[in-house]
Amino acid sequence: MSEDIAYHEYDVLVIGAGGAGLRAAIEAAENGLKTAVLGKSLLGKAHTVMAEGGVAAALGNVDPQDGWETHFYDTCRSAHFINDYRMAEIHAKEAPDRVLELEYWGAVFDRTPEGKIMQRPFGAHSFRRLAHVGDRTGKEIIRTLEQKIMTLNVDVYQEITATKLFKDQERIAGCIAYYREDGRFAVFTAKAVVIATGGWGKAYKVTSNSWESTGDGAALAFRAGAELADMEMVQFHPTGMTWPPGARGILVTEGVRGEGGFLCNSEGERFMEKYDPVRKDLSSRDVVARGIYKEVKAGRGTPHGGAWLDITHKGAAFIKHKLPGMYEQLLSLADVDITKSRFEVAPTIHYTMGGLRVDPYTGATSVPGLFAAGECAAGLHGANRLGGNSLSDILVFGRRAGAGAMEYAKDTKMPKIDDTEVQAEVERVLAPLSRTEGENPYKLHEDLQEIMAAHAGIERNGQSLEEGLGRIQELRERTEHQMAKGSRQFNPGWHGVFDVQNMVLLGEAIIRGAIERKESRGAQWRTDFPDELENQGKVNYVQRLTDHGIELHPEPVPEMPEELARLFKLGMAPGLANSARKE
Ligand code: FUM
Repeated sequence: MSEDIAYHEYDVLVIGAGGAGLRAAIEAAENGLKTAVLGKSLLGKAHTVMAEGGVAAALGNVDPQDGWETHFYDTCRSAHFINDYRMAEIHAKEAPDRVLELEYWGAVFDRTPEGKIMQRPFGAHSFRRLAHVGDRTGKEIIRTLEQKIMTLNVDVYQEITATKLFKDQERIAGCIAYYREDGRFAVFTAKAVVIATGGWGKAYKVTSNSWESTGDGAALAFRAGAELADMEMVQFHPTGMTWPPGARGILVTEGVRGEGGFLCNSEGERFMEKYDPVRKDLSSRDVVARGIYKEVKAGRGTPHGGAWLDITHKGAAFIKHKLPGMYEQLLSLADVDITKSRFEVAPTIHYTMGGLRVDPYTGATSVPGLFAAGECAAGLHGANRLGGNSLSDILVFGRRAGAGAMEYAKDTKMPKIDDTEVQAEVERVLAPLSRTEGENPYKLHEDLQEIMAAHAGIERNGQSLEEGLGRIQELRERTEHQMAKGSRQFNPGWHGVFDVQNMVLLGEAIIRGAIERKESRGAQWRTDFPDELENQGKVNYVQRLTDHGIELHPEPVPEMPEELARLFKLGMAPGLANSARKE
């Protein structure tokens, strides 16, 4: 074959140009390593920009009683105690520094009257903890990281899709990717690779996720031998738009409730008081999403199958100042002025809490030299993620994965990529373009979304999950025979071939995890097993891809060490742990 392939060599290769990827690249490059970032879209357009309400960090600017212990406690409690306690500890301790670092790099956060970074309340956080920039926090974070990257010696490859990771014996060796613009191939040999490609919310139809969220990196790493964990844990954000149809699923930030908005059913009842009398509208996402779902099922839904969200009582000036994006979004997309009218919202797939299993300190996966951070990695969020913990996650663990990759790369030689493997992958990637008949990637994507909604949605049961498994296995087989019409020049149908292969693989892992977890815990709601199991349920379901297919086994969540467990024994009344720290 006479493909004109470009070859590059790096110490650290980061796949994914969202917050986690950029933060990882900054860490490696600042320490003098030859670093590259590959992004599927244009720099600055990663899914991180869709994060709205804020970044969670116990700065204590608005509520001085806040501290890392309470943040740690809130995170673990919300995760239903199947998260990695070390990750939760590191995250809670390091998030404030990562936010201050962003400010130092130029991020312009909203301010308290005395000039500190402003913090707002969010669901299931004990204190006002989310540092924010109106309701466009993710955008400001990406802008800041992008600006910082520009000052460093990082090569950024844009609109490029990685399709396979290569190994040299057992260790990672790099990847092959193609430019979306014209289908040219490039091979990247790297001593260490960081996967930071985000989640796979696009496996579902009603989602707040943008087109990039197809789980590429997680699927590539899984095929390369890395383990996945907690795949069944997929988060429904309680408040997505319901109408018009084209806007269905688009995020309505939790910041609306954080700033005083409340939910009502069609009878005008503030129903969250029933489901969580203490935290009400600011309960954890699993509880609020289920609350809305139950109200709709009981016949108390809004015209488009959701609940009313009302913030009109706060007044136009306040709303436009605090939630300018929401004001514009609802006005332009649904013709609703949220300063004057309540509006409809319903649960939308928002975040994949499971993912690549990583070491809490370095982000190392089970494949030597392969690291992961951000939404594609499991561990921090367990069965339910707290709002705002995604942005702090990408900063804290993006930096750590960059450092982990850097340390690994410093001590190792450049690996070798086998040319026959490169040629085989080029042939595989080009094959759909030369087929004259085959499966249509758009149709397969639609089928996948239908399967996931029908069998692995907010409410699950064993029989339906088993049916879903059979259906998705058939679908996986069909993804091997796809056809893409047209040429290599920016061809979304061709790109869709690989997206759907990745999402179907991960969708199967979601269903398998959901079948094995015979209990209800956080985002996993099994109507045939409605209770949360005490110790038996405190396991992570770990999945591995072998020659015989996906293998799954439970691993007990390790016991928390006494220095952390005592925080729970103290009962963690607000501020208690922080005074405990000072003892
Ligand atoms: O509601 C939101 O603004 C989403 C934030 C998050 O998922 O962290």
